[in-house]
Order: sequence, then structure tokens, then C-alpha cells
Amino acid sequence: MALSSPPTTLAPKTRVLIIGATGFIGKFLAEASLSSQHPTFLLIRPGGSLISSKSSIIKTFQDNGAVIIYGGVDNKEFMEKILRKYEIDIVISAIGADGLLDQITLVEAMKSIKTIKRFLPSEFGHDVDRAEPVEPGLEMYKQKRLVRRALEESGVPYTYVCCNSIASWPYYNNCHPSSLPPPLDQLHVYGNGNIKAYFVDGIDIGKFTMKIVDDDRAINKNIHFRPSINCYNMNELASLWENKIARKIPRLVVSENDLLAIAAENIIPESIVAAFTHDIFINGCQVNYKIDGIHDIEISSLYPGESFRSMEDCFEDFVVMAAEEVHKAGNGVTGGAKSLVEPVIITATC
Ligand SMILES: NC(=O)c1ccc[n+]([C@@H]2O[C@H](COP(=O)([O-])OP(=O)(O)OC[C@H]3O[C@@H](n4cnc5c(N)ncnc54)[C@H](OP(=O)(O)O)[C@@H]3O)[C@@H](O)[C@H]2O)c1
Repeated sequence: MALSSPPTTLAPKTRVLIIGATGFIGKFLAEASLSSQHPTFLLIRPGGSLISSKSSIIKTFQDNGAVIIYGGVDNKEFMEKILRKYEIDIVISAIGADGLLDQITLVEAMKSIKTIKRFLPSEFGHDVDRAEPVEPGLEMYKQKRLVRRALEESGVPYTYVCCNSIASWPYYNNCHPSSLPPPLDQLHVYGNGNIKAYFVDGIDIGKFTMKIVDDDRAINKNIHFRPSINCYNMNELASLWENKIARKIPRLVVSENDLLAIAAENIIPESIVAAFTHDIFINGCQVNYKIDGIHDIEISSLYPGESFRSMEDCFEDFVVMAAEEVHKAGNGVTGGAKSLVEPVIITATC
């Protein structure tokens, strides 16, 4: 498809509201919005979930110029009021799994005020109209699909960011995977380990999302992140890690049936993680279709001069994290890799 030129940067910066900025993906988006000089407004849920680490995240964003607005997206009148009051142009949602359907109220608010230039709903994973994980993963996709249909029906311009997997060793320990170095004791390889997936650093998810929001070529499109330098299967990923740490690690095959059995147990989050792992590394949900629909664009075709951070570089960071882990263990600090990060259990993945 012939693509027109990227937008010029002379226009005044669009005003961006981010929902879910205290979350895993939302933090990258808020950082990118602030560093790209967009007037940045963060909608924060008031109340109990403001644990100290979240308060310090909010304070850091505030110190960097973000305007903090307390409230919930599930209140249409409130959302209409703040979208008007702060003259918001762009709304980006990185709401976690529990709040996905609340976005429908937000869509209604944006539809009624009519001035929103773009809404990016909480996607940031797979193309949910194409991927078909087993339950309990499928339920999350059904909710994301409902939000898509409500949005398309509303007439509010939108973009779906399909950025595939976060750059990391996939999913072990049921924590956000990029918060941990890959394992040092045993590497799980799913199926034959030969199904490829795309891995994108969180900073690049933020960086490219902020380019897309001001780019008319992305209006009403699915934007797919498929950086060719970061396309790996599990066997290649295992070798990459072993090369980085100059050590061989035993590999354990986790079969398709193993993953399906964990998914069928319906324990959260393990079963959701197993369902998505099955979809990625057995079904090949990231690579089993071509990006050739009229609504599909691969991000590199929009910004051919812009590079992605490589998995090689990301794994260098993990070497440092793993060394700290070993150092702590040597000093009698228990808890292993998990002790290095706050134990935030995932509520949503791809
Ligand atoms: N590609 C990948 O590898 C990958 C990885 C992870 C996530 N994702 C996707 O990214 C999106 C965000 O997931 P996440 O893991 O970043 O979520 P998360 O860490 O659980 O964070 C969710 C954020 O949404 C906020 N929130 C939740 N419900 C809300 C509501 N009703 N109103 C306002 N704010 C609300 C939370 O606020 P509080 O602080 O108040 O709880 C928090 O800031 C999801 O669509 C997920 O599927 C993709």
C-alpha cells in the first residue's frame, strides 16, 4: 500500500489523556507522552489502589509536567466534563483486564462531545479479531472486541495498537515478564520451540504509540509492530540468553497438552498466561496471517527510518538484573529473581 508522508511537527502539540498510567503498559505511554512534549493529562482512579509505589509514580509524572485528574472512566458525565475542560484531543487507554468494559462508557462520552481526534483503546498486544486463544484468555479478547465494535459504531477516530509481545523471557512466574531476567535454572520451551513471535521493548511501545497518535495515516487502522530484528522462537531466545550469560541451561519441553491442561484449570492468572502462551507459541497467532487488509499497517512502513531496540540490547539489561540476583543470593538474601521486583501480579497480558 502506498503511504503518504508523515505529519509535520510544526503544528501545536495535541493534548493527550492517558488512562491506566500507573499500570505496566501505561507507564511507558505516559513517559513517552511527556518526553515528546505533549501536554499530558493522567486519569487516576482515586481510592484504595493508591499504594505507595503508585503514589511515587504519580508524583514523578507530576514533577515532569503531567496534570493529574482523579476519577473513573465509568462515569460518562464526569468524563465528558474533563474531556471538555482540559480540551483533550487524544485519549489513550491502558486499562487492565478488570476495567476493559468500562471503556464503553468512555466511548459514549467521547461520542457525545465530538471533539476527540483519536482514541487508542486498551489493546497493546495481539490483533484480537484474528487471534483466538482458548479460555480463559478468550474472554479478555471478547471484551476487547466489544470495545472495538462500540468504538467503530461511535464514529470516534481510533487506532488499534497491536504491538505483540513485550521484550522479555515470556511469561514465567506469572509476573510482568520484563520485570524479571530470564530464568537461570531451567528454560521452558513451548512445543517444538520453533514458532516465532515478535518482541518489543516497552520504551518502543511508548515511542511509536506517540508517533501514531498524531499521524492521520493511522486513523481507523490496526497498527502492527513486527520488528524483523526482534522475531524469535523459543529455541532462539534460549540460545540468546545462554550466549549472554555464557552458560548452558537445561531446557524443559512444555507441550501443547501441558499448556491446555493449565489453561483448563481456570486458575487466575496462571491459566490466562497458559492460554496466551499456547496461542503465541503453538498456534503462532502473531505470525499466522499477512498484514494485507485495508485496515492493517506495519509500523515500519510508516516510519522506515526509526529503529527498534533489539532483543540483544534488552537481554543485556537482563544480564545486569540476573547478576544482581546472584549477588543477593550470595549475600544470603532470599527470594530469587522475584525478590528484585515488587510482586505485582499481572491482570492482563496480550
Ligand atoms: N503486549 C504485551 O506483552 C502486554 C503485556 C501486558 C499488558 N498488555 C496489555 O496492555 C493493557 C494494559 O495492561 P497492563 O498489564 O498494563 O495493566 P495493569 O498493569 O493491570 O494496569 C492497569 C491500569 O489501569 C488502571 N485501571 C484499571 N481499571 C480502571 C478503571 N476502571 N478506570 C481507570 N483506571 C483503571 C489501573 O489503575 P489502578 O492503579 O487504580 O489499579 C492501572 O493504572 C491491556 O490491554 C493488556 O492486555 C500487553
